[in-house]
Amino acid sequence: MIKFVSPPQKALKGFVTIPSDKSLSHRAVIFSSLANGTSVINNFSKGADPLSSLAVCKALGVRAEFKDENSVEIISSGILKKPSVPLDCGNSGTTMRLMAGILSGQNFESVLTGDESLSRRPMRRVIEPLSLMGAEIQAVDCHAPLEVFGRRLCGIDYVSKLASAQVKSCVLLAGLFANGHTSFTEPYLSRNHTEIMLKYMGADIRTEGCTAIIKPSKLAPVEIDICGDISSAAFFIAAGLIVPDSDIILKNVGLNPTRTGIIDVVKMMGGRLEILDETLKSGEPVGDIRVQYSDLKGCVIEKDLIPRLIDELPVIAVLATQADGETIVKNAEDLRNKESDRIKAVVGEITKLGASISETPDGFVVHGKTSLSGGVQVESFHDHRLAMSLYVAGLVCNKSIGINGFEWVNISFPEFELLMNNLFEI
Ligand code: S3P
Repeated sequence: MIKFVSPPQKALKGFVTIPSDKSLSHRAVIFSSLANGTSVINNFSKGADPLSSLAVCKALGVRAEFKDENSVEIISSGILKKPSVPLDCGNSGTTMRLMAGILSGQNFESVLTGDESLSRRPMRRVIEPLSLMGAEIQAVDCHAPLEVFGRRLCGIDYVSKLASAQVKSCVLLAGLFANGHTSFTEPYLSRNHTEIMLKYMGADIRTEGCTAIIKPSKLAPVEIDICGDISSAAFFIAAGLIVPDSDIILKNVGLNPTRTGIIDVVKMMGGRLEILDETLKSGEPVGDIRVQYSDLKGCVIEKDLIPRLIDELPVIAVLATQADGETIVKNAEDLRNKESDRIKAVVGEITKLGASISETPDGFVVHGKTSLSGGVQVESFHDHRLAMSLYVAGLVCNKSIGINGFEWVNISFPEFELLMNNLFEI
């Protein structure tokens, strides 16, 4: 589907409640499936990715009942059953990698499959540590489908070259079913939702800097309130900063420091952004964010900041086109392994719009501020975050643009366009 985006006649005004966090929704449904009893998840995401996790858990014998549009009850004995079908993870890397950890420690065999994009993504990063724990996984060239033969696992002390929450979560979840303790050390701290939620559910888990250590544990069923996704809020933050005269409030946004790199970048760029009310929800910090149109300047984004904003880099590239001077992104080579090669894709597509941006092996360099001409058609490459980043770019182009494959936004944020349009109506 081609979506046409025209430069708006008005500024963005008012407020928007940011929908449920994708990372937390995956974890809530997967971890609740391991708890004996009834768990309640409030504000569960409507994105296709978390629904893939839900479907996989159901195929493993777990019951799910929607109480209303947003709340789902997960009813489980805490013991997963051998599935009678391959477990379809759709487009979701989080589902596949987290489930690989859990399934490695079960007493049955299972197969994890995914769509074309997921089948191209690297799984060696989880197969390697799991094999060291005694898992047996068969996969051609370490790509999905993964055939997982459940085994008795042994705990390991794993030192990862990658700062990856998916790999960390996979190893820690395998550790729940392993003999002895399991530790995972990463070069920089990636999102720590798994550590927080497992602790909230009673697991024996602790952290020391960039190391998390877990012992085999039983999880308790709990009620979890999921906050809004800062990765979804990022598109509104960028739009509010670059569409002249905008002034918006984003409500109920998750502010876990392992996810707030975008806020640090906006501050470095000189953007007007304030955090209004901060509270805790199910162990996670949450607040409202006010964003106003701003004069921006370029900045350098690298090292430990990268895992804290990994999913926001495509929209940060768009933001940087509207900032004076040079914005340099380094140490982000793993962006090439996301739903698309996000370095190549974002550089190629915003160049078509008139941006001055060049690709480097581990990131990109943007020269701003540029008046984007637009008037062309661009590609989402079946990547939800690229589709939404291009939409935001379309808001500051001189002429309308067409975004091919816009329907991929449904992977994480089906409400995106409706909520964006609401802010133009005041
Ligand atoms: C995620 C972790 C990140 C992120 C992905 C979701 C998670 O991936 O890009 O969208 O929920 O754990 P990596 O951990 O592989 O960087």
